[in-house]
Amino acid sequence: MADVVLITGASEGIGRATAFTFARGGYRLALAARTAETLKQTAIDLEQSLNAEVLAVPTDVTQPEQVQNLVERTLERYGRIDCLINNAGICMSGPFLQTTPEHWQALMAVNFWGYLHTIRAVLPDMLKRKKGQIINVGSIGGKMPLPQMSAYCASKYAVSGLTEALRLELQPQGIQVIGVHPGIVSSNFLKRAIFLDEVGPASSPDSQAQTSGGKAREQMQQALESFWVSQPEEVAEAIWDAARQSKSEVVVGMAQWAVGAYTLFPGMGRLIAPECSSLAQVLGCWIISGFADPAIAGRGLNLGIV
Ligand SMILES: NC(=O)c1ccc[n+]([C@@H]2O[C@H](COP(=O)([O-])OP(=O)(O)OC[C@H]3O[C@@H](n4cnc5c(N)ncnc54)[C@H](OP(=O)(O)O)[C@@H]3O)[C@@H](O)[C@H]2O)c1
Repeated sequence: MADVVLITGASEGIGRATAFTFARGGYRLALAARTAETLKQTAIDLEQSLNAEVLAVPTDVTQPEQVQNLVERTLERYGRIDCLINNAGICMSGPFLQTTPEHWQALMAVNFWGYLHTIRAVLPDMLKRKKGQIINVGSIGGKMPLPQMSAYCASKYAVSGLTEALRLELQPQGIQVIGVHPGIVSSNFLKRAIFLDEVGPASSPDSQAQTSGGKAREQMQQALESFWVSQPEEVAEAIWDAARQSKSEVVVGMAQWAVGAYTLFPGMGRLIAPECSSLAQVLGCWIISGFADPAIAGRGLNLGIV
């Protein structure tokens, strides 16, 4: 029987592209996202274009009982889960003091706890079979710090730590744990992102529509329109290669240059410009604002960092 992959955040962006890639590779699919209509449409597209076998289960990964139901239904239908791809994630950007504990909780609930809930639900079956792959989609923000993104970075660094520690623990038991870290990807990420105005009052996650906009959203939009952004299909290919070749970790696209430079020279930022407190800020300006600040990005270029 064909292998089974369970993908969260599968209705759009990287998750949807990954579903198509694994379907082409012959996998049977279990797909999850909250919005039933878009998830169903993705399943129909996969069935019609690739004749794929798809189970679509509307699921909010922040809710452990919904995740348990997703995994139980997948095991009932297919009998096993060979590969779990944790991908559902949201973004938040803005100055630290504009964030509230509720913002942090909302972000961690999806980006960190969502991953934890799926792993806890899937692992007993994998351990029983002494076989399986867990692929956590992280981010460049989980490999180097990015300005105005403390909560997002904290959530993705948590995913990196979880991925690396679990890899050590589970490898002897036949389970591979893989981290795939995209840079900036052209997707609908912005649609769900929380952007906090730099000058407005701190808002709750629920009031994001009123307070979103402003410089942070503008910079992210610019970054998404720059020429070096990855497409979801490129990340999907990287996930597929990582799974097939049992890689431990992959940084996708242009992000690998920034992460490489940051890893080699984490303290160099202080030498570059007095207004930059770290190299991460310089590289972060490159990554996040797409050369929005030529004074900073230009100095990075002159040093041949990226
Ligand atoms: N786009 C980027 O620039 C970028 C860069 C680095 C890393 N990443 C990471 O890549 C992953 C995917 O990003 P993307 O760009 O493909 O995002 P996207 O286009 O916004 O798609 C997100 C997917 O996750 C689902 N989702 C969101 N919240 C969920 C929840 N609570 N429970 C279940 N599903 C949920 C969405 O559907 P519903 O809203 O219907 O639930 C959608 O299917 C994320 O982990 C992100 O952090 C993205």
